Amino acid sequence: MITLDSARLKMRPWEQRDATFVFDMYSRWDVQRFLGHAPEVMQTLGEAERLTKRLGQVDDPLLGYWAVELADGTVVGTVMLQRIRLSGTAAQSNEIEIGWHFHPDYWGHGYAVEAASRVLKHAFDSQVNRVIAVTLEGNTPSERLCQRIGMKNLGRTSRYYDAEYTLFEATR
Ligand SMILES: CC(C)(COP(=O)(O)OP(=O)(O)OC[C@H]1O[C@@H](n2cnc3c(N)ncnc32)[C@H](O)[C@@H]1OP(=O)(O)O)[C@@H](O)C(=O)NCCC(=O)NCCS
Repeated sequence: MITLDSARLKMRPWEQRDATFVFDMYSRWDVQRFLGHAPEVMQTLGEAERLTKRLGQVDDPLLGYWAVELADGTVVGTVMLQRIRLSGTAAQSNEIEIGWHFHPDYWGHGYAVEAASRVLKHAFDSQVNRVIAVTLEGNTPSERLCQRIGMKNLGRTSRYYDAEYTLFEATR
């Protein structure tokens, strides 16, 4: 995974020392409520440690899960690029999804927009022609983010994750 920089942010691989942040973020209902169709908050630091390890193990020049850091080293959230799972299958497809999870303490500063724009640029710089995002009904902050980074709303779809989502698309 490569490290990315933007005006205020650094996007880097997850490290084991980030597990307490990961737990703090994913143990909150505000963060989890629109993640998947059966969301649950994270219960233990052990789960966060295992997740942090898994996220940090991605070794791919294009895809990955970036920890988003302020200039002073404070971690504020994550942006990811991954192959999306098609409904009715267990495998990942060739379609590339961008996603974002930020800690509520850092919402509303434009960090998510800035980090997502940078990761999208990384995808296009890497010759990816199309990146999609999917949002569950009611996730207005995420829909606004999609629009702010120039993604087009293609309407409702059941093509992914065995649930109905709004599909957004960005093309190079
Ligand atoms: C979706 C999510 C990442 C959005 O985060 P956010 O903090 O609201 O996003 P930002 O701060 O980047 O943008 C929010 C607003 O802050 C504004 N803003 C405030 N200060 C800013 C600054 N200095 N620079 C730029 N924008 C700024 C933006 O313009 C934007 O305005 P808008 O809502 O009118 O578009 C966040 O709600 C989240 O983590 N949710 C839980 C996880 C989740 O649901 N993920 C998505 C699953 S599909």
